Amino acid sequence: MIDLRSDTVTRPTEAMRAVMARADVGDDVYGEDPTVSELEETVAGLFGKEAALFTPTGTMANLLAVRSLVAPGQEVLCESSAHIARAELGAHGAFFGVTMRTWTGVRGGIDMPAIQAMFAPDVSPFFVATKAISIENTHNFGGGTVLPLEDIDAVGQLIDEHDIGLHVDGARIWNAHVASGVPLADYGRRSGVLSVCLSKGLGAPVGSLVRGSREMVAEARVWRKRLGGGMRQVGVLAAAGLYALEHHLNRLAEDHDHARLLAEACGTDPSGVDTNIVVVDVPDPAAVVEAARAEGVLVSALGPRAVRLVTHLDVSRAQTDQAAVVLAKAVSVVGD
Ligand SMILES: Cc1ncc(COP(=O)(O)O)c(C=O)c1O
Repeated sequence: MIDLRSDTVTRPTEAMRAVMARADVGDDVYGEDPTVSELEETVAGLFGKEAALFTPTGTMANLLAVRSLVAPGQEVLCESSAHIARAELGAHGAFFGVTMRTWTGVRGGIDMPAIQAMFAPDVSPFFVATKAISIENTHNFGGGTVLPLEDIDAVGQLIDEHDIGLHVDGARIWNAHVASGVPLADYGRRSGVLSVCLSKGLGAPVGSLVRGSREMVAEARVWRKRLGGGMRQVGVLAAAGLYALEHHLNRLAEDHDHARLLAEACGTDPSGVDTNIVVVDVPDPAAVVEAARAEGVLVSALGPRAVRLVTHLDVSRAQTDQAAVVLAKAVSVVGD
């Protein structure tokens, strides 16, 4: 099977497994795992910020990030198909009493007039107070969209003027960096509290980080433990992350090329594909998923009118070519 459902389906390479096997470890709840500390310092350094905390999942990183900015009964504004709004199962409300209002951006993008219309940082006691804005870069359900720097800066300006928080869900910020050429430190400078994932395009089996000020991260460490996310000898996992950062970052460009190739095969404009995610509009997504599966290609339905294809480390150029043939047929037959 050629699995294009998500970039989370990758398996650790032999070289990554070898590094994991010999990782130096200790009890990370005691702060004694040297490999975890190295990973946290490395990621904080990449984004030019004080500290970072290793978490088991991107969802937990996002939870700790938003919690640090928004108290119970207050709100975060985000895009309507943001991962924090659509795919974290209401965790921000369920655990931390956070409420959300959303704007709907083109391909998950930033819509400043809509944000300004909703923005309510210090209204009377009759309304929920806006305490943070959350943006997603790249935007998963928007189709791997890279947010333009000028849009991020516009949000940053609003945040600064009103002294509220900015959260960036950067699960795939690595793809944004490789596609746009914007240095990670530049994204970091504009990020406020940032969450990143190692288990998506970078190909590590597990792991995310939340990056912020020393104070924010110290508090997040306590909340991570409270949520049951205190981990012990997880240097074996951090080692996979360090390996991924060193060896799998720049190769993301290949995934982006493969994604454009697949888009073209499916009759979708490849110039609208920023990174490794392709959204193809089809009248009957379930039928396309089934037709592709029958020919050895896995894709996922994205809502009632589209399928999603995601390229990654475990899909070679030859497999991309093979998938392109299968998908071209599946899309056209089902579309007829
Ligand atoms: C944009 C984005 N943020 C956060 C997450 C959550 O990551 P995890 O599945 O590790 O909880 C995902 C997962 O796919 C994602 O796409």
